[in-house]
Amino acid sequence: MKAKKNIVVLISGYGSNLKAIIEYIKEKSLPINISAVISSNNNAYGLTIAKQYAIPAYVIDDADLSNKEYNHNLLQVVKSFSPDLIILAGFMRILTKQFITPYDNKILNIHPSLLPKYPGLNTHQRVLDNKEVEHGCTIHYVTTKLDDGPIIDQQKFLITPNDTAESLKLKVQKLEHEAYPKIIERLVV
Ligand code: GRF
Repeated sequence: MKAKKNIVVLISGYGSNLKAIIEYIKEKSLPINISAVISSNNNAYGLTIAKQYAIPAYVIDDADLSNKEYNHNLLQVVKSFSPDLIILAGFMRILTKQFITPYDNKILNIHPSLLPKYPGLNTHQRVLDNKEVEHGCTIHYVTTKLDDGPIIDQQKFLITPNDTAESLKLKVQKLEHEAYPKIIERLVV
């Protein structure tokens, strides 16, 4: 039997992508083990999701540390799991070069816009304000620049006149939950 691949998921919030990834792996019985979920936020609901599925969950919530120190601590913990892939799913810290270098092309992020348009926060409202005709999500390799790095996949849809920031968020989330697990499968299995 093929050895299972190890992934570590980094979160800061609700964890709906985490849940979609866990469910997909379970449904398809993929040879992927989520060895750890690590949150930068002690109150992240994603920690509850990890516990529901008996996945070891850790908090590295060093609000007082510089980003460099934070990344150093994070790297020590992540390294201990020897991940084949590191999945950012709503993780709100910027990774440093020191963190990324040992995992070149092994760190993925998902972002709720069609990058390179709309990096950063509040993407759905900004898309509406600019009267864009389409919207979607992007999965990309992580670099030291926020929401940057080589694009692996994009999923898009046309915006309708009735769309609001909330409806766009729901439409994007649906695409994210379908696309992210499939890309992870493609890259590690
Ligand atoms: C997603 O919209 C993702 O694109 C962005 O952060 C959000 C995370 O949502 N990077 P969740 O925590 O997975 O529900």
